[in-house]
Amino acid sequence: MKVQALTGNHDRNGFDCGVEALNFWLRQTALQHQAKGISRTFVTVPSNAGDVQGYVSAGYGDIGEASILGFYALASAFVLADDLAPELAKHYPRQIPVTRLGRLAIRSDLQGQGLGRLLLADAVTRSRNAALSVGSAGIFVDAKNTTAAKFYAEYGFTVCKEQPLKLYLPMW
Ligand SMILES: CC(C)(COP(=O)(O)OP(=O)(O)OC[C@H]1O[C@@H](n2cnc3c(N)ncnc32)[C@H](O)[C@@H]1OP(=O)(O)O)[C@@H](O)C(=O)NCCC(=O)NCCS
Repeated sequence: MKVQALTGNHDRNGFDCGVEALNFWLRQTALQHQAKGISRTFVTVPSNAGDVQGYVSAGYGDIGEASILGFYALASAFVLADDLAPELAKHYPRQIPVTRLGRLAIRSDLQGQGLGRLLLADAVTRSRNAALSVGSAGIFVDAKNTTAAKFYAEYGFTVCKEQPLKLYLPMW
């Protein structure tokens, strides 16, 4: 698989992660927000025809080269240091610029196979590279539910003060 910026050529309608709000956002909103510079969406797709063939042989008959296997979106945001866990807040001024990981989702039938971890790593690397040019102290995520929050916590994200679904990962 490879990761690319979302374009109109990707098959947004064929994507289903089991959370309709995320499917809908990808179908209806992602490209509009991208055009306005509100957020940038990245998708993972099969690397080439051989990769597609591998998926088809494994029983994923609907996967083609334009199929979206997973996606995430990044945007800029500010958070109040006071909202972070106290041990992190003490390092920062009152308000800090962060990169917001808005959405991360994997096709339902490919969940649990490591794709989410790969996309999260890609999001962190991309955010850190961008932060070399425009300041951003860390990655902030609004988890959809406690299950998603556990996923982020497993990779070092810290729960914000009194907000168990908001998590933060310092980048520096
Ligand atoms: C949450 C999601 C992105 C995880 O992606 P995934 O491809 O299923 O996860 P992975 O297979 O990469 O799992 C990576 C690790 O996270 C762990 N993990 C995955 N889902 C988890 C969960 N719900 N709770 C706790 N840990 C979880 C796995 O055990 C694995 O750890 P391991 O490598 O030590 O075994 C995916 O399940 C998804 O798209 N869910 C629906 C949409 C959603 O809720 N997105 C979150 C929006 S905030």
